[in-house]
Amino acid sequence: MGRPAPFFISADIEKPQNDMTLDIDQIGKGFLDELRTIDSLPALAVFRIKYYGRQKGVLTLLMKELQNKSPENRRDLGKRLNDLKIEMESAIAEKERQLAARELDQRLASEQVDVTLPGNRGPLGHSHPLTQVRYEIEDIFHSIGYSIEDGPEIETTYYNFEALNIPEHHPARDTQDTFYVSDSLLLRTHTSPVQIRTMEKHCPPLRIICPGRVYRHDNPDATHSPVFHQVEGLAVDEGITFGDFKGTLEYFLKAFFSERTKVRFRPSYFAFTEPSAEVDISCFVCFGKGCRICKMTGWIEVLGAGMVNPAVFGYVHYDPEKYTGFAFGIGIERFAMVKYSINNIQYFYDNDLRFLEQF
Ligand code: PHE
Repeated sequence: MGRPAPFFISADIEKPQNDMTLDIDQIGKGFLDELRTIDSLPALAVFRIKYYGRQKGVLTLLMKELQNKSPENRRDLGKRLNDLKIEMESAIAEKERQLAARELDQRLASEQVDVTLPGNRGPLGHSHPLTQVRYEIEDIFHSIGYSIEDGPEIETTYYNFEALNIPEHHPARDTQDTFYVSDSLLLRTHTSPVQIRTMEKHCPPLRIICPGRVYRHDNPDATHSPVFHQVEGLAVDEGITFGDFKGTLEYFLKAFFSERTKVRFRPSYFAFTEPSAEVDISCFVCFGKGCRICKMTGWIEVLGAGMVNPAVFGYVHYDPEKYTGFAFGIGIERFAMVKYSINNIQYFYDNDLRFLEQF
């Protein structure tokens, strides 16, 4: 039993000495109860500050309070406080270990990789429908011995017109159709100048096709574009006949459209071929009966062609007595539109994926 406190001692020290002991017990119990409810590492961090915070931490405040105790109480309480602090520290460390282990388990479970699942396939692009149609045309001609030639898109009037037997005042030269770069330079209006360039470079026999861009002064609409694509074809040899010409084009058109396609040759005019023909295929929608697609005729016009005009051979110094040949001009857009029933040429140039992804 301690001595009764003298009446002049400070109010603080007058308090029953076991007040703080009580605090320590209660704090220890409250601490453990609260610790049990902590459910995450961030919540534990907040909890730790509540007890150990340098300014207002519960333990810090108790330590401060200790200064006001009498030396013998201070020793006893100090020891108890220290024990509590050590106990609390190890409880927090244990809790931290548990929470970290649980979070790791959860992460491992949620991030688990099933290596047997198929991978995610990224969207894969493909070539443009016009490119696909060009490849198809090239493949067919390649398979019957044609090679591919190339020529410039900016041409001279000589190659685009004159050497193709289109003289100076011919309506085909009209500025309404042709984009002129200067008096003697233009954007080629067809791939036919490559006929001339190839014949200048090589002696017969010749079997070539030339795919490429061509330009005409047309306003864009459902069937016209100022830039479009053609494939020119040319065969020159000794003894090539109109029968070879018809047979080759028929073989090609059946290979491209279908075996059931019928082919028709109508007389036409091109300055560089004689005789010339427009070539039609039987309508694949109505098979010749007449429908909207073939405008009730049963036939669809697909290309222009003819036997090479001997006058053209004169320009490239081929002997017209010895050599004959045929030429044809295929519109790639036209072929694609007929094959896939596309009713507007502009779809090819709009780059709308909803259209392009259908090919
Ligand atoms: N060059 C012609 C055109 O663009 C097509 C054609 C080519 C016709 C070859 C006959 C022979 O209209």
